Amino acid sequence: MDRIRIRGGRQLKGEITVSGAKNAALPLMVASMLSDKPLTLKNVPRLADISTMIQLLQQHGVEIQAAPGENGHSHGTTLTLCGSKITSTVAPYDIVRKMRASVLVLGVLLAREGEARVSLPGGCAIGARPVDLHIAGLRAMGAEIDIDGGYMVARAPKGLKGARYTFPKVSVGATENLMMAAALAKGTTVLANAAREPEIIDLAECLAKMGVPITGIGTETLTIEGAQQLKAATHTVVPDRIETGTYAMAVAMTAGDVELVGGRLDLMEAAAQTLRAAGVVMEKTNRGFRVTRANGLHGVDVMTEPYPGFPTDLQAQMMALMTRAEGASMITETIFESRFMHVPELARMGANVVVHGESALVRGVPKLRGADVMATDLRASVSLAIAALAAEGDTTLHRVYHLDRGFERLEEKLAACGADIERLKG
Ligand code: UD1
Repeated sequence: MDRIRIRGGRQLKGEITVSGAKNAALPLMVASMLSDKPLTLKNVPRLADISTMIQLLQQHGVEIQAAPGENGHSHGTTLTLCGSKITSTVAPYDIVRKMRASVLVLGVLLAREGEARVSLPGGCAIGARPVDLHIAGLRAMGAEIDIDGGYMVARAPKGLKGARYTFPKVSVGATENLMMAAALAKGTTVLANAAREPEIIDLAECLAKMGVPITGIGTETLTIEGAQQLKAATHTVVPDRIETGTYAMAVAMTAGDVELVGGRLDLMEAAAQTLRAAGVVMEKTNRGFRVTRANGLHGVDVMTEPYPGFPTDLQAQMMALMTRAEGASMITETIFESRFMHVPELARMGANVVVHGESALVRGVPKLRGADVMATDLRASVSLAIAALAAEGDTTLHRVYHLDRGFERLEEKLAACGADIERLKG
């Protein structure tokens, strides 16, 4: 298994190009299955999760072509996906267990084919992560869903019907699943207390281009008219706000000076406000924004919340940054119940963090030291890389496959800004 070695102490200087958002690209790819006409997606990041989604969609019968991106700054891919014929309505355990976002095919297959058999995603390192809201929402639209042999077995013999559904809890994935199901359902669907992450907006805008009338985009109530026939469409994936925030924190950690090309502060206002309070300077440029630090870092309190709140996907990285701040920082995780797996690993590097229930108290330390550390999930692993950039000596990050799921060419991007980082193969 690959490892990444980082020798800390170098300031990051230069520019980093932000990739397309993984969490936008995955549902957009699934949306191609709604239509028998091609959907072209530009700025798709090159990531293990995208390859897994390609594999899943291909086994459902979607024809997919990949071409290098045309945008000079971006290294993304252009994917053309054509779901002219669905050949299988089964999403097998072997693929779903690798990537939870696979459950997004449930609504689309039900809406288009009237049936689906989708594996339950199973255990996950960051909490139980059930799919009850996906199921309840689809039932409200007329689906019959049973659990059998670890699979959700769903049928809608008379097709899905538009319905009004209020989410008891905000869920990104369940909102996406229902939006796509509603796109082909009979009549109008109203989704209340829907998630409004930028990735949801991206999906809504793409569905609108495909011929699905949607109103309330960007609000917590989405109204979707089911369409009979969809059109060919082309859509560019929104920049990755989590990757942007992660690099902003990495730069701040090393007191560096980096322009994040394509980075959009308007997609990460809560995180930007928190970073500014911690002493990070971010200034808009023509191509994105520049990150510097005037003085030292100060401890700030953070609570994760659904968008537009501080994202849970930046919590681990923020904690890494706070390990070197002056004073204390209280970090509260309200979205996932066991998302502090990075704490013992940060402690191996000398961080002072105490967890009390859903909050972690981080007391800044004057120095971190390199160590062997283990990545436990995608965002936790990158938080260890951030800590390593400022640690004395060498850090070896094990289980790098977590990083490869969600960060495109991380070591190349950091090395280009002067980081001492290399991938050790095997
Ligand atoms: C998505 C993101 C993930 C991010 C998360 C929260 C993708 C591919 N992944 O995950 O990176 O961390 O949003 O911003 O976009 N829940 C239920 N029942 C359900 C569904 C969810 O109880 O049926 C709970 C979850 O356990 C969690 C909370 O709702 O506590 C939010 O989860 P959700 O927004 O659904 O996350 P994902 O869509 O899985």
